[in-house]
Amino acid sequence: MAESTKHAPNSDIKTTKTIAYAFMLVFFSITLFLAFSPSPNPSSPWFTNFFTTKTSSSSIFSFFFHNTTTTSSLPSSPFSNTFSRSTNNNFHSSNSSTKTFKLTPYGNKTQASVPTTNKTSSHVSDEAKPQKKTNQTANMKQEIHIMMESLKKCDFFDGKWVKDDQSYPLYQPGSCSLIDEQFNCINNGRPDHDFQKLKWKPKGCSLPRLDGQRMLNLLRGKRLVFVGDSINRNMWESLICILRNSVKDKGKVFEANGRVHFKGETSYSFIFKDYNFSVELFVSPFLVQEWEFLVKNGTKKETLRLDLVGKSSDQYKDADIIIFNTGHWWTHDKTSKGKDYYQEGSHVYNELNVLEAFRKAITTWSRWVDANINASKSMVLFRGYSSSHFSGGQWNSGGQCDSEIVPIKNKKYLRQYPPKMRVLEKVLKNMKTCVTYLNVTKMTDFRKDGHPSIYRKHNLSSDERKSPLMYQDCSHWCLPGVPDTWNEILYAELLMKQYQNQNQH
Ligand SMILES: *[C@@H]1O[C@H](CO)[C@@H](O)[C@H](O)[C@H]1NC(C)=O
Ligand SMILES: *[C@@H]1O[C@H](CO)[C@@H](O)[C@H](O)[C@H]1NC(C)=O
Ligand SMILES: *[C@@H]1O[C@H](CO)[C@@H](O)[C@H](O)[C@H]1NC(C)=O
Ligand SMILES: *[C@@H]1O[C@H](CO)[C@@H](O)[C@H](O)[C@H]1NC(C)=O
Ligand SMILES: *[C@@H]1O[C@H](CO)[C@@H](O)[C@H](O)[C@H]1NC(C)=O
Ligand SMILES: *[C@@H]1O[C@H](CO)[C@@H](O)[C@H](O)[C@H]1NC(C)=O
Ligand SMILES: *[C@@H]1O[C@H](CO)[C@@H](O)[C@H](O)[C@H]1NC(C)=O
Ligand SMILES: *[C@@H]1O[C@H](CO)[C@@H](O)[C@H](O)[C@H]1NC(C)=O
Ligand SMILES: *[C@@H]1O[C@H](CO)[C@@H](O)[C@H](O)[C@H]1NC(C)=O
Ligand SMILES: *[C@@H]1O[C@H](CO)[C@@H](O)[C@H](O)[C@H]1NC(C)=O
Repeated sequence: MAESTKHAPNSDIKTTKTIAYAFMLVFFSITLFLAFSPSPNPSSPWFTNFFTTKTSSSSIFSFFFHNTTTTSSLPSSPFSNTFSRSTNNNFHSSNSSTKTFKLTPYGNKTQASVPTTNKTSSHVSDEAKPQKKTNQTANMKQEIHIMMESLKKCDFFDGKWVKDDQSYPLYQPGSCSLIDEQFNCINNGRPDHDFQKLKWKPKGCSLPRLDGQRMLNLLRGKRLVFVGDSINRNMWESLICILRNSVKDKGKVFEANGRVHFKGETSYSFIFKDYNFSVELFVSPFLVQEWEFLVKNGTKKETLRLDLVGKSSDQYKDADIIIFNTGHWWTHDKTSKGKDYYQEGSHVYNELNVLEAFRKAITTWSRWVDANINASKSMVLFRGYSSSHFSGGQWNSGGQCDSEIVPIKNKKYLRQYPPKMRVLEKVLKNMKTCVTYLNVTKMTDFRKDGHPSIYRKHNLSSDERKSPLMYQDCSHWCLPGVPDTWNEILYAELLMKQYQNQNQH
């Protein structure tokens, strides 16, 4: 790859975006109403379909607010829904003599509240006082500017977990029939609940609470694909539950092939029919291909092709949003020992250091992305290493975490950032495609309390009952739980992307 075709490192890209954003901010008030023109700029494929939908609530503003029951008398205004009195949202409800609008993204903390006229007079006063409406609109625009600016500048992954039992969990445990038993901890008898009520609070901003309906509207007509290992399956299931919870007719959310268990196949796809949207999973734990090498005497030997990207890649390269991951499988015996396992072309390495093998594999992946993914059509994300918390052993040797019910508080107990993730960061920086890196390692490292542990199964077998400690899962996450937060960050990324496209017109 020639130097000149290389992109700036991710951090520079972020800076550039911020400057560009500040510039665009100046023109925001001019361009704002262009957003509602019937012919959006066709050169911006992202979310244009969303702006061409007919309902007034498809305005940019409605995406930042709860879709509350409308009492407003201004149906022609694209802002009408946002001024409505809230009767059914997830925050404290306003009282009957006060209308409030709720700035969802800030959640509870910095919630903006504009008291207006009381309920009985709202009809008259809203129409009689256009001046007031203008002020409210201006206020909201201002709030959105402030929010988007704070998100743009924010490192989402530097922060802490704070208790928030008003807004979390995003869905009730047991309410999502689609969750694999493996993640369905409360149903499996987990007695403590606090692990579901933590919000991730970045230092520099507050993450918008994920509003499923808003997110569905952002994703209308799109394909969102997860590619990776079972931790990405964990995140995939979380997103399905969050979004399904926001769909009125749940019968119109289904797996394309009617599957109800999510292990053993190479891919799965959940269709959200009313939104013409699918959220898919492609199993590819290494992102490169598992292979069989024919030994001279006729037997076969398992190898890993560091030079070939995963098999299904052709099936998802056109997706609108692709979230990759790999990590845990590089800690298993075969990979970490690396003896007669790694293969390039017809060459099988007698021995290869796992970090070097990882670098080769990720480089193969990155070249494939640069060559096959159209970055102006598809948004590419990579989720980093999710921490596990086995103590007293490993995943296959009696490691446990079942007594953990609170997160790590003291940072000195956090582990070192994995060298593999440093390798990954370096590869990402050299890519032509701008890949959004979800740097979840540290945020998950705090959460020793979030794993299924022994609550990974409803009924332990008699073997498992004899030594439950042999069967703990301290790698994956209970749902509701930590992966919901990753999806909340994905939501924030989508909002930013939409806002950015909006302001490029
Ligand atoms: C907003 O909520 C109302 C009432 O629930 C519903 O009729 C309308 O379709 C919703 N709008 C959107 C965009 O979801
Ligand atoms: C509701 O309105 C009453 C009277 O205006 C006021 O005293 C009270 O504090 C309000 N309650 C809330 C929760 O805003
Ligand atoms: C509510 O509006 C009615 C009618 O305009 C008015 O008589 C009443 O005083 C108002 N109440 C409050 C609390 O503002
Ligand atoms: C509305 O805006 C105008 C002009 O900026 C200002 O003079 C007026 O005081 C505002 N009214 C309210 C209620 O904020
Ligand atoms: C949300 O607001 C309520 C009432 O203002 C407050 O009691 C509660 O502590 C707030 N929660 C958070 C997480 O800020
Ligand atoms: C569904 O979305 C696809 C793009 O992903 C589009 O080609 C197709 O026309 C849409 N179908 C409907 C019924 O909107
Ligand atoms: C074939 O060779 C492999 C290693 O080269 C060895 O492990 C295996 O036992 C051999 N099988 C037979 C049937 O000789
Ligand atoms: C990439 O996608 C954009 C937007 O969909 C499209 O206009 C462009 O032609 C595509 N480029 C290639 C090389 O396919
Ligand atoms: C990711 O987070 C780690 C801390 O866990 C930090 O050391 C590293 O620099 C971060 N990477 C990026 C690209 O921000
Ligand atoms: C667990 O065992 C009970 C009693 O044996 C049985 O009724 C239940 O269906 C089992 N649950 C699962 C998920 O296997």
